[in-house]
Amino acid sequence: MADNKQEIQFLIEAAKVARKFARAKYSNFSVGAALQTEDGQVFVGSNVESSSYGLTMCAERVALFKALSEGADKFIRIAVYTESDPPAPPCGACRQLFFDYAPDIEIILAGDKSEPVITSLEKLFPRPFGDGDL
Ligand code: THU
Repeated sequence: MADNKQEIQFLIEAAKVARKFARAKYSNFSVGAALQTEDGQVFVGSNVESSSYGLTMCAERVALFKALSEGADKFIRIAVYTESDPPAPPCGACRQLFFDYAPDIEIILAGDKSEPVITSLEKLFPRPFGDGDL
């Protein structure tokens, strides 16, 4: 348990640092994410926006795609750092991608203004579309 607390704190700090690299000049809403694998690797991401707004990519998916494309697998936890109060949850598109690649993932919502919230994909995405629906 103590170990988990330390890991969670580390992940929140990593997401906070990642947020500094957000490219969010259209929305001015910067997001950082830090994704932890079962074997202890951490992949970070920040949101990257486009002048063609729909091409924007969320911080969570940047972290997930970086991890997947480098061969990582078995994700246990992600921290998402925003300025929102209470801290904002991942959008629906990110929830879908988590369901596809990390259905059991724990999700930590964090920010400067209030205590982190520990939740799970299962709670945030109760009736997903998935392999079984194809
Ligand atoms: N954003 C994320 O990075 N993650 C989310 O889960 C929600 C939204 C970004 C996308 C866009 O750059 C900005 O926040 C405003 O929607």
